[in-house]
Amino acid sequence: MRQPLVAGNWKMHGTRAGINDLVTGIKQGMTAGITAEVALCPPFVYVTDTGRMLADSSIALGAQNLCAERGEGAYTGEVSGAMLKDAGCTFVIVGHSERRALYGEGDALVAKKFFAALAAGLTPILCVGELLGERERGDTEAVVARQLDAVLLQEGGVAGLAQAVIAYEPVWAIGTGRTATPEQAQEVHAYIRGRVAEHDRAVADKLRILYGGSVKANNAPELFAMADIDGGLIGGASLDAGQFVAICRAAS
Ligand code: PGA
Repeated sequence: MRQPLVAGNWKMHGTRAGINDLVTGIKQGMTAGITAEVALCPPFVYVTDTGRMLADSSIALGAQNLCAERGEGAYTGEVSGAMLKDAGCTFVIVGHSERRALYGEGDALVAKKFFAALAAGLTPILCVGELLGERERGDTEAVVARQLDAVLLQEGGVAGLAQAVIAYEPVWAIGTGRTATPEQAQEVHAYIRGRVAEHDRAVADKLRILYGGSVKANNAPELFAMADIDGGLIGGASLDAGQFVAICRAAS
């Protein structure tokens, strides 16, 4: 049995005051019925504040990105995996489509960040997903395979995935209000699990594959009911305590 995971990706949203209200609301909603693992990924500057607020809860802390370089060094503006670990993070999102599209992160850099996260003792949430045009051309599996193989085919790739989480996020569904149907998502999730199983069936069986892309309280139950969907990576709806808690409940 895979324990579902719901991770909130706040992206570049929030103020100290706003985060205080949001975290308070989410903590209040974490009642006994919620058995899914829950994580929050604030912007870097709010990681420590958020961690302090979560200290008396079972909610885990994550970050949205990390530097591909390990250790310390002259990398102005960057934040290392070791720093995130030191600040209390358990998870880190790697290769989000916004990092790929807006900041030029390619498969090789994403893979480097993935292994840097593992080296720091963090659980990477590796994001994969196709653009609308790629789906329309029938290239969804090819794109996801390429993004996955960038990690999977490296030395230690399968072992790395045993310590990681994957998020399938079709780019056309992110922040658009247009969700993949449960069947569309399930098809890709099963494909991802199958591709990992070609290397190691036990790792594939244990691997948590989250769906992301306009998940809301009203569509979460049908998505999470699918066999290979093990929770969600939640953007917009994670900024609303009521919505986010309802999604956590749907995953439980
Ligand atoms: P969304 O974002 O839920 O706002 O679509 C998901 C994500 O980008 O992780």
